[in-house]
Amino acid sequence: LGVRAVLSLPMTLGQWILQQERQHPETADLAPLITATATAGKQIASLVARAGVSNLTGTQGSTNVQGEEQKKLDVLTNEVLKNALRSTGKLGVLASEEEDEPVSLMEEAYAGDFIAAFDPLDGSSNLDAAIATGTIFGVMRSGEQCLTGPDDASINQRQMQCMVQTLQPGANLVAAGYILYSSSVIFMLSIGHGVQGFSLDPAIGEFVLTHPNVRIPTRGKIYSFNEANSDNWDPVLQDYIRSMKKRGYSSRYIGSLVGDVHRTLIYGGVFGYPADKKNPNGKLRLLYECAPMAFLMEQAGGIATTGKQRILDIVPQGVHQREPLICGSSADVQDLLTMYERSV
Ligand code: AHG
Ligand code: MN
Ligand code: MN
Ligand code: MN
Repeated sequence: LGVRAVLSLPMTLGQWILQQERQHPETADLAPLITATATAGKQIASLVARAGVSNLTGTQGSTNVQGEEQKKLDVLTNEVLKNALRSTGKLGVLASEEEDEPVSLMEEAYAGDFIAAFDPLDGSSNLDAAIATGTIFGVMRSGEQCLTGPDDASINQRQMQCMVQTLQPGANLVAAGYILYSSSVIFMLSIGHGVQGFSLDPAIGEFVLTHPNVRIPTRGKIYSFNEANSDNWDPVLQDYIRSMKKRGYSSRYIGSLVGDVHRTLIYGGVFGYPADKKNPNGKLRLLYECAPMAFLMEQAGGIATTGKQRILDIVPQGVHQREPLICGSSADVQDLLTMYERSV
């Protein structure tokens, strides 16, 4: 490669992190967690791509604490991500879709001040059909040192303290993002200064900056809802979807939140998993699905709401609490909010 060609190489994630440390010193201590998440993402990308070859499709024969049947890779990717984050020594507490305990405390030796909440394999029901899946993560700081409680604090008292620290609104996120396992492996990330996207370059095994300063189009032409549920939606939402059909919008829905949200971020439009008569809080989990996606959407200039309130303002009452999620282009989502305002 000539000098000019070398200088024109895209920035790697590692180089970007170093640049961010200089520009925003308060984000410096996040670096090990972001690097560890990226490493876990590469390992999971390899597991997902080789699932059929290495007999890792299909179910584990167990259910998670929410009663969902676990895929083999739900369990395996959870271990991969947990180990990667624990090894940084920066994490105190973690919450995961696939963990039985509400929160897992890191052993003292590894204990750090950060809290991580993640969905290790989102869209896992799509895995056996080789459709896009993803990993979703959010990182917060723990208010006070929930880990260094009084020495005599029993483990379940400390567990309770740390769970309380985990139940923070998404507005407190200091980092959030996802890794998309699709035709490309793309790490979308925000540490509070916009959204950056990094594509895995298999030639060098590095994530390289391919989507600098992502801004979601103010309006799109695609809506993304599971219309099988539409008879159970509220009338305002039914009118909203009808109005987009009349305006010639297209429908795209793959049943993997990471894939549907990524397309919405890049092309514009609106994604929704709304409440319905059978599921008054929708299906998606606030802590490790709605909040990280809402953080990214707002950092990219979009809106993320339940239809009634801003996702990032919601203070969770439980680790697996579900909330309705409508997110995407500001003009498209604002149309729905205006219809709700006028309906009261
Ligand atoms: P997970 O695989 O982590 O349990 O998440 C699945 C979620 C989300 O990825 C997607 O948006 C939604 O389930 C699809 O649900 P429906 O199949 O009910 O539309
Ligand atoms: Mn699941
Ligand atoms: Mn999920
Ligand atoms: Mn999942």
